[in-house]
Amino acid sequence: MKLPPCLSILSGHLCIGGQDCVEIASRYGTPLYVTDGDRIIGNYSAYERALHSHYSRIRVLYAAKANGNLAILRLLKEAGAGADVFSSGELSLALRAGMAPRDLLFNGNSKSPADLTLAIRNGVKISVDSLDELELIESLAAEEGNEVEIAFRVNPAIEVPTHPKIATGLRTSKFGIPHEQIKGAYEVALSREHVRPIGIHCHIGSQILDVDPFEKEAEVMVRIAGSLVDLGVPLDFIDLGGGLGIPYRHATDPAPTPEDYANRVMPVFLRGMKEVGIQPALWVEPGRYLVGDSTVLLTRVNSVKEAHRRFVNVDAGFNLLIRPMMYDAYHEVVLANRALDPSQIMCTIAGPICESGDILAYDRPLPIVRAGDLIGVLDTGAYGFAMSSQYNARPRCAEVLVRGGSITVMRRAETIQDIIVPMEARKW
Ligand code: LLP
Repeated sequence: MKLPPCLSILSGHLCIGGQDCVEIASRYGTPLYVTDGDRIIGNYSAYERALHSHYSRIRVLYAAKANGNLAILRLLKEAGAGADVFSSGELSLALRAGMAPRDLLFNGNSKSPADLTLAIRNGVKISVDSLDELELIESLAAEEGNEVEIAFRVNPAIEVPTHPKIATGLRTSKFGIPHEQIKGAYEVALSREHVRPIGIHCHIGSQILDVDPFEKEAEVMVRIAGSLVDLGVPLDFIDLGGGLGIPYRHATDPAPTPEDYANRVMPVFLRGMKEVGIQPALWVEPGRYLVGDSTVLLTRVNSVKEAHRRFVNVDAGFNLLIRPMMYDAYHEVVLANRALDPSQIMCTIAGPICESGDILAYDRPLPIVRAGDLIGVLDTGAYGFAMSSQYNARPRCAEVLVRGGSITVMRRAETIQDIIVPMEARKW
């Protein structure tokens, strides 16, 4: 199997960032998310460089929803990233990581008054998703005595080749203002006292392995930018969102690079801006591309059962990695403690949750697996831990960070006490 660059196999053991996963698992326990920080920095630099080679006014906002661990946000902040945040929690994490408010954009179709107030108080720009929300922002900003810089989220009505649940720019999607109504929205914003429209925002979907739709998106945004400039909107940034996918099926998935993305998007953007006569910053919001292939989920085999299939029962299920269950997503699996064992037998990796759909991987050829073995589920850095739950009252597992030869716990494992205590009727 072709492994992502941060993984290798040494003496039959899966290694990440040069560290032996078998040793890591015995030291920190399982299930366990293990992330290679250097890989994240490498991915970030590649993304930034690809765009920057076309244009100097580039800002990369990391989509914090992909992996909100503070250690990862700090790494990315050090590398120069801002963040796309989608909740008060993500906003607070980004600030705690040391990101400057000016490097953040608060996104979302349903922000509460409390969310908006937090953004307004911190001077964070807001991507506005409806006229109703605009009016709420106007009145909250008036109460706070502040002016808020905003963009509107555009719904560009673009089809994308991805799972329907994560296509976000379809005409039928809940996100954004239909592109044909967008000019009217800016007209309203221009007439309000406490909001200052300075950008436009779009995000067409996630895990997109074809760069065509991004080019279409850029075309729509350039056209809208032209009409906004005519209207007198001082456009300072155009945000194209994230969405570049990664090759989860290592042997067969296409693997578009940030250069492929930039080579298609940037000429459209630059030509368009020249015609319009402005030089706004170009913002992008990658999540998965930066963190997806940096992480392996290590899970221990509890038992093996020959039944309708050969079930390998492991200690992580959709409580920790919901992508296979939710999107029929494919993740490569490796027998981490005997990765070079040549025998191959079809196995189905089943989690410990009481639902039949709790299968991490169906019918994969693996060496003969026994109880006590260690399985690595690959490419789990994006939307892995971030979407975990305590279903079946299972504490969430720890996350460790491998960097430059050292290993640190970046989130301790929860305990059963962490589940029980918040429910106890106590006065805090
Ligand atoms: N910007 C906005 C406004 C977004 O909604 C998203 C993702 C991103 C940026 C980052 O997209 P990325 O570069 O990571 O594709 N849970 C799903 C993915 C949901 C994506 C939601 N929005 C999954 O596991 O595949």
